[in-house]
Formats: sequence, structure tokens, C-alpha cells
Amino acid sequence: MIYQIYPRSFADGDGDGVGDLPGLTARLDAVAELGVDALWLSPFMASPQADAGYDIADYCAVDPLFGTLEDFDALVAAAHARGLRIIVDLVPNHCSAQHPWFRRALAAAEGSAERERFHFRDGRGSDGELPPTDWESVFGGPAWTRITEPDGRPGQWYLHLFDASQPDFNWQSPAVWEEFRRILRFWLDRGVDGFRVDVAHGLVKDPAFPDYRTGPASGSMGGEGAPAPYWEQPGLHEILRDWRRVLDEYDGDRALCGEAWVSTIAKTALWVRPDEMHQTFNFHYLETPWRAEALREVIDDSLGAFSSVGAPSTWVLSNHDVVRHATRLGLTAENPQGEGIGPDFPGLPDPEQALRRGRAATALMLALPGSAYLYQGEELGLPEVLDIPNDARRDPTWFRTGGARYGRDGCRVPLPWEAETPAAGFSPSGRSWLPLPDDWGRHARDRQQHDPDSTLSLYRRLLSLRREHGLGTGRLRWLDPAGLLGPRQEPERADAGEGGEAGDAAAARDALALQVGDVVVLANLGAAPRPIRAAGEILVASAPTPGRMLGGDAVVWLDSPDVPETR
Ligand code: NOJ
Repeated sequence: MIYQIYPRSFADGDGDGVGDLPGLTARLDAVAELGVDALWLSPFMASPQADAGYDIADYCAVDPLFGTLEDFDALVAAAHARGLRIIVDLVPNHCSAQHPWFRRALAAAEGSAERERFHFRDGRGSDGELPPTDWESVFGGPAWTRITEPDGRPGQWYLHLFDASQPDFNWQSPAVWEEFRRILRFWLDRGVDGFRVDVAHGLVKDPAFPDYRTGPASGSMGGEGAPAPYWEQPGLHEILRDWRRVLDEYDGDRALCGEAWVSTIAKTALWVRPDEMHQTFNFHYLETPWRAEALREVIDDSLGAFSSVGAPSTWVLSNHDVVRHATRLGLTAENPQGEGIGPDFPGLPDPEQALRRGRAATALMLALPGSAYLYQGEELGLPEVLDIPNDARRDPTWFRTGGARYGRDGCRVPLPWEAETPAAGFSPSGRSWLPLPDDWGRHARDRQQHDPDSTLSLYRRLLSLRREHGLGTGRLRWLDPAGLLGPRQEPERADAGEGGEAGDAAAARDALALQVGDVVVLANLGAAPRPIRAAGEILVASAPTPGRMLGGDAVVWLDSPDVPETR
């Protein structure tokens, strides 16, 4: 179980309105008592913060915004003392334009060793005035920016798959390989237990630099549509193997986990072959709609693909780049990853239904064998924040698309801790780098702490049962939901009034039943309640189960050593 900390929004220790390492250390018990194994921290290294720290100017320094290296050491010690491992973010695809290497490259001549560490190219057109390829930045606009040469002439172009302030490294350059070995060792020597690898799918570019039209839906981190000449290029596996060798020099279990938006689950599994990374995010699971058939298929495909290379499957529903799942699962219109939503989004959800689904989806995910990733605040059932004033938005996506895409600020709003304090306890000064909604305090941890029906209590119970029943290392088998859940108790939504065979078929489509170890999990994905027919004590449910009735959009775990045969 890995819990993602987004440091700038977790807890602010010094009152400047941005979360920091001392603030995190002071609140560590809240995470420890959730019952997770490791914390992954989004970047806290020295950075101009153009992309919230994913633009690093010094990979081996802590940005003063977040504290000092001593604060980091104190955090590691405090985490280890509580049995929590620490995973830090490694950002190898690009650095900040303020990184000394890039500044030197700008000052150096065309074709110099300094420029070789990045992708500098001459432009097209009679005067080099057109970008070298048609590639688009993930955040919108062209992926190339033209520089002014030291002598004042308009000059070459450099590649940035993200913001113009994030130049891409050239992984053909041996100096880049050497530098990242040094960075890995720096943090490993400081006691970190692993790395989450940012944009692992983008490190290597097709050396021919062909044109590629991404089309209108180009807002995602990649992994969609026709193979792009900058995603999933075969050469990048050599880089992963190099890093694996470095990690293997160290004692203990040090892990690499890839952020790789890859086109198929089968290809995703190639990232975790025995000599590459240990885990990789399963974004296919995150992107699966709340439908029984689709979920069953993605779960089967994931378990099959990952086990074929001897790696655990991973599961994730939320992170700092996607609409929070306690909102997303209720959306009624398409919303490509990275676009974000605002108050004018045409498919806004019913918040109660979306939270119900969010809780149910977590209850399903936490039953699955493998390794699950949680994102800070989901244990409070936090929704996506929709009404951030436009002048307070920070995501480069918002600026690079002239406000056409909201981007990711809505899932990054600081955490509410205590309802009745300034900034809901996030910051002692009441300041906050993104404004908090007026009613943010109603989600506060102190409100949920002792409420048995709160989302926080649900997460705690799920996590402790997951551990107690060894579900993470269990084996999954599917059961026939028909015998375990009775018929729907009232007509519902689109298939209202369906009866007989058609009704049964629809009801089967709306349900899932599975067993992992001695736990049976029933999921009702329809809107109408259904009686729980399966025997066994109810261990936990994502919604109340009065009279053993499982409500719509709800999941229950039962303690059932004896269950009917597999379907
Ligand atoms: C993926 C990170 O998760 C995201 O937040 C960031 O903007 C891009 N990579 C670029 O580093």
C-alpha cells in the first residue's frame, strides 16, 4: 500500500501557505494510522515551481519552500521509525530551464557538448522560423521553443514535451546517464527506499524526429492513439535496466515504480520484467468506467499480464494529475485525462452519487491482489474542486491553452485537517497556495475521525482488513453474482421496467462477485438495492447495509470461507 503525498498541499509547517517537509513530519501519525506501507512524495527538490516542482533546477537539493536536506533526513527517520518507507520522485525526462546545464547550453554554441544534453535542432522554413517537428506539448501548444543565440540572432529550437520551462534531456548523451546514476545514489545514500519515475514512457525519442499529428484529443500524458515518436520507444528499457543495477547495489528492498502511460496492459507489463522496474502504475485501471464488464476485463488483463513477468499488479484510482475519483466516477460526459473540469463542465455529477461510487470503487480496489496506490485526501472522500477562481489557477495547462483546459488544480487543493481552524488546519497562518472552498472544513479529518460512517473510517477498516486477510498477496477467483446477490428491489434508470430474462441479464451485468482468500466481495454497480444472499459476516461495506440489503453503487466484503463454485 503506497500513499502519495503531494507536499505542497499536505501540511504547511511555516505558515507561508505552501505545504512543506516539517509540516508533513508533524502530521505523519495521521498517515501511519491509516495502515499504509510507504509514502511516495511528489518533488520537493529545488525548482522554480513552474510545474509545481516537476521542473527541477537542482536534483540534490531541497527547495527552501519545502525546507532543508536536514528536514528531509528527519522525515525519513520519522517515517522509518513508524515502519513507513519513503519513495521520492525522480524526474528524468526533463529539468527546469533554470538548471545549470540548460543555462550553459543556451550560452554555448550549436553542436556543443552542452547542447548535446538536450534536444536542440534547427528550425524548418527558409529562415529556421518553423519548429523542427509538429509535436505538441502535453500541456498544449508546440513542443518546441526557439531560443535567441548568445550573439542575439534568432537561433535553434529546443524540445519540451511539457512546459517551455521544462527542456527534455537527450538520453542519447552519456553525460545524462551518468548524472542520473549520481542522483539515484545521492538519494539512496540518504536512505530512501525507492523512486517513482516521472514520464518514464517519454525518455527516448525516435532519432529520426518524424512529424506526428496528435489530433484534437492530445491532452493526455500519452499512451493513446497512434504510436507517438516520443512515447514508448524501445530504447528506454536499457535506461531502466541501468537504474535497476544501481538500486541492486544497495541493501534492503529499494524499488522503482514507473509513471508510464502505455497503450496496452500487456505492454505496461514489459516495464516490470525482472531486471527493470519493480512496479508500474496501472492507468488502465484508473481509466476504466464504473461498469461491471469493463472492470472485470481490466482486472483479468492486469493480473494476467503482470503475473506473466512475475510482478505484482498495481491499482490506482486517483493522483495529482487526474480528476479525483470521488467526483470522476459520477461524471456524465467525457473528460480526457489532464483536461480537468470547472463549473461549466457539461457532465457534472450528482456529488452524493459520485462519492458513493468513489467509496465503492475503493472498496473494490482494496480487495484486489497486488499493490494499491492512494492519493492524499481520497481517504477523506475529497471531491474535485470546481470553482477555483481563474486568477488563482496554477497549472501550466491552463495558461498554455488560454484557459481552454482547466488542468489539474482541482485535485491539488490543500488538505483540510481541523474544521474550525484557519485554512482548515492546513496552515497555521490561514494562508493557502490554492484557495480552499468555503465549506472545505466539512471534509476535515477531525470531523471524520470518530464517525464510524465517514470515508476516513471506511478507508481505515478496508486497509486493516486487507492486511489482516492478506488480500495483497491472495489469489482472485470470480464468482457468479446471481446466487450471491438477489434481484433488484425497484426499477432503475435506463433499464427501468425490464423483467424476466432481460432483467436478469441486466442485473448480472450490474454486479460483480469475487473471492480473494477468505473474503468474498460483492459489488452492486446498478442504482437499485439488492439483497445480499451470500452467507457470512459483513466485514465492511462502502454504504450502510440495513437488513442485509446492498444499496446501489456499493460494495461489501463478507467473511466467507465456503462459497459456491467459480463462474
Ligand atoms: C507527470 C507528473 O505526474 C505531472 O504532474 C507533471 O506535470 C508531468 N509528469 C511533467 O513532469
